Amino acid sequence: MFLDRLYRSTAVKLAAVFFGFFLFLFLIATSATYLLVSHELTKTVDDRIRAEYRIIAAQLDPEASDDFVQNVQNLADLRDPQLGILLLTNKAGDRLAGNVEPFQVEEGGSTHALPQIKRGDDYAYRLYSRPVGDMQLIVGQSLEDSHELLEITLVNLAWTAGLAICLAILGAILLSRKVQQRLRPVAETMDLVADGNLTARIPRQNPNDDLDRLSGTINDALDRLKLLVDGMRQVTTDIAHDLKTPLNRLSIIIEDASREQDNNEAVSGKLEAARLECENINQTFEALLRIAQIEASAHNNAHFATIDVASLIETVADIYSDVAIDAGMTLSVQPTSESVSIKGDERLLMQMLVNLVENAIRHCPEDTAITIDTHRKRGKPIISVADNGPGIPASERKNVLRRLYRLEQSRTTSGNGLGLALVKAVADFHDAEIQLMDSDPDNRERPGLTIEITFPSKADQQ
Ligand SMILES: Nc1ncnc2c1ncn2[C@@H]1O[C@H](COP(=O)(O)OP(=O)(O)OP(=O)(O)O)[C@@H](O)[C@H]1O
Ligand SMILES: [Mg+2]
Repeated sequence: MFLDRLYRSTAVKLAAVFFGFFLFLFLIATSATYLLVSHELTKTVDDRIRAEYRIIAAQLDPEASDDFVQNVQNLADLRDPQLGILLLTNKAGDRLAGNVEPFQVEEGGSTHALPQIKRGDDYAYRLYSRPVGDMQLIVGQSLEDSHELLEITLVNLAWTAGLAICLAILGAILLSRKVQQRLRPVAETMDLVADGNLTARIPRQNPNDDLDRLSGTINDALDRLKLLVDGMRQVTTDIAHDLKTPLNRLSIIIEDASREQDNNEAVSGKLEAARLECENINQTFEALLRIAQIEASAHNNAHFATIDVASLIETVADIYSDVAIDAGMTLSVQPTSESVSIKGDERLLMQMLVNLVENAIRHCPEDTAITIDTHRKRGKPIISVADNGPGIPASERKNVLRRLYRLEQSRTTSGNGLGLALVKAVADFHDAEIQLMDSDPDNRERPGLTIEITFPSKADQQ
């Protein structure tokens, strides 16, 4: 179980990869060290036996070669053949002097095993063979010391590697346990979410590291998911609830029409009423779809253009001033000296303004004054639509932004309760904030309504 978890741990897999890499590098380094040390040791031995050869060869006097042979024999007698050898032969290979039985060896430097010399298992000698006059002088040195040194080096390297491997394995186990400990709350939370508990959140931990930041991002995503699912639930209930009435009405109209038809009465009036009811239902669906589309394309702002707010307001005021006058109201634009521009979708912003102006015209009594204004506050562009109508009580301001929500007092006027939901969707789409307030808080009879949309400043938009 533990081994299985360990085997499937990302930290252990990563550690294994690094471990393999480390082992590969270690093998290369060990081989290189071995070759270098062995080469250096051989070179040191070679230098020594060559120097010895030169010293001995320099003593040869061609006139007194017997003395030379005697000298070599004297030197050979002083030498332990287990450590070093001296051999002087004639051209035929017969020994003239030396501390070892004659043997064949190639000219120059070479490595030879000389098992005839009784010693441990290591028979290797480094030899140097060169002529001296008409004789052949072989100087050699045992490689036992060098081999011992090499062995010590190798054993040292092996111990170091063993220790490093043990530490690496221990480190991988500790690391994997630590990572698993940190990941467990994430997995547990996601299990709860998968089981349908959308309120579960990953507990944040003290070190503000990448895992903790990831937990924060997942929590934010879960917040948003919950908001969307709640919104979806709310909308589904609202739609079902709100469409029941017009569908019931439609059903009654059709029943009436069919009864009247049976009585041979004219049904064209009932059919027209049914058509209007269908149109109303259709409009509701269209508006709902439109809001859904805007919400679905959030963050897709590649097509945003720089819009001159003053001219946008002017256009809406031109279209609606006559409608306002017909309703016994006035619609004016607050004059402004500063030019306000925002990055956005012109069509949607126009729709947003139209909805606000239409609301004021629809939900306010005659003689209402409607004002559209734009200005900047702390660098942030603001568009506001104000009226001096009945206003919206503070407790209802959040509700009216919901889909299909209408105040009790508006039940008799036409509309679906989707205008402000669309305004909110457009504001969200532009990262703008929407605020509802009284136009004149001191006037209890008609506090009026001011809806302010605050857009991000240019710096925030970048
Ligand atoms: N200017 C206003 N003054 C007073 N009440 C308002 C004003 N604007 C909106 N309201 C209230 O807020 C409610 C929601 O407005 P919203 O625009 O969402 O829906 P609607 O105007 O009723 O229908 P429609 O979907 O056609 O816009 C309205 O029903 C109304 O009660
Ligand atoms: Mg409206």
